Amino acid sequence: MAGRRLHWLIAGLAMAALGSGYVLTWPDAYSASLLRIHLAFGVSAGLLSLARVLVWLTAGAPPPAFEPGSRLQARLAKGVHVLLRLVPLLLFVSGVGMLALSGSFGAVARGTLTGLAPYQDLPPRNLHHAAAFLLAGLIGLHGLAAFWHRLNLPGLKAG
Ligand code: HEM
Ligand code: HEM
Repeated sequence: MAGRRLHWLIAGLAMAALGSGYVLTWPDAYSASLLRIHLAFGVSAGLLSLARVLVWLTAGAPPPAFEPGSRLQARLAKGVHVLLRLVPLLLFVSGVGMLALSGSFGAVARGTLTGLAPYQDLPPRNLHHAAAFLLAGLIGLHGLAAFWHRLNLPGLKAG
């Protein structure tokens, strides 16, 4: 199913953006190539998430892969899925916001930016960091839930 393929594509790209983003901010880990790799993963995850949100708003959410055990479980899953669709958009907007406000796009494109200093005091940076932290937590919860269902997921496997 196209929706399931999109799920795994976005999941892989978003987790790669998360990993490359955190490595980028480690002491001495910065490199212009790593920043560009992060932007490539982040922009792809953001744009595909936008496509998924448009599908969701027009055609509705995909049917659940398995029956929820209770109403509370169904509500929790729904809430986490809504956030997992929207938070990558927040990361996209705040990431593009950092590039735009810092005026560093040219240096990033040429690979000549020497560090993250241009983003230091920009408001979207705090939003980006908070959204990344939230996404990591949501993916943790979501992964644990999938594990709890023992990865017995015919819907996703069929993807
Ligand atoms: C650790 C890897 C992941 C696993 C094992 C996994 C597994 C699953 C499973 C089993 C479902 C179906 C749940 C249901 O229908 O009740 C699902 C749905 C969903 N997952 Fe994941 N997922 C992973 C990573 C991610 C990531 C990184 C994102 C977002 C960035 C994400 C976003 C979603 C969304 C939005 C849904 C709702 C259905 C949809 O709109 O496609 N997942 N996932
Ligand atoms: C799903 C998409 C994305 C994820 C998961 C993500 C994740 C991250 C993470 C985890 C960090 C390190 C933050 C921290 O240490 O708390 C980071 C930093 C950064 N990201 Fe992203 N990001 C995404 C998309 C983007 C996009 C689309 C752009 C720009 C077009 C972008 C630009 C940046 C920049 C410039 C930094 C360095 C900011 C700094 O700490 O000085 N990101 N990102």
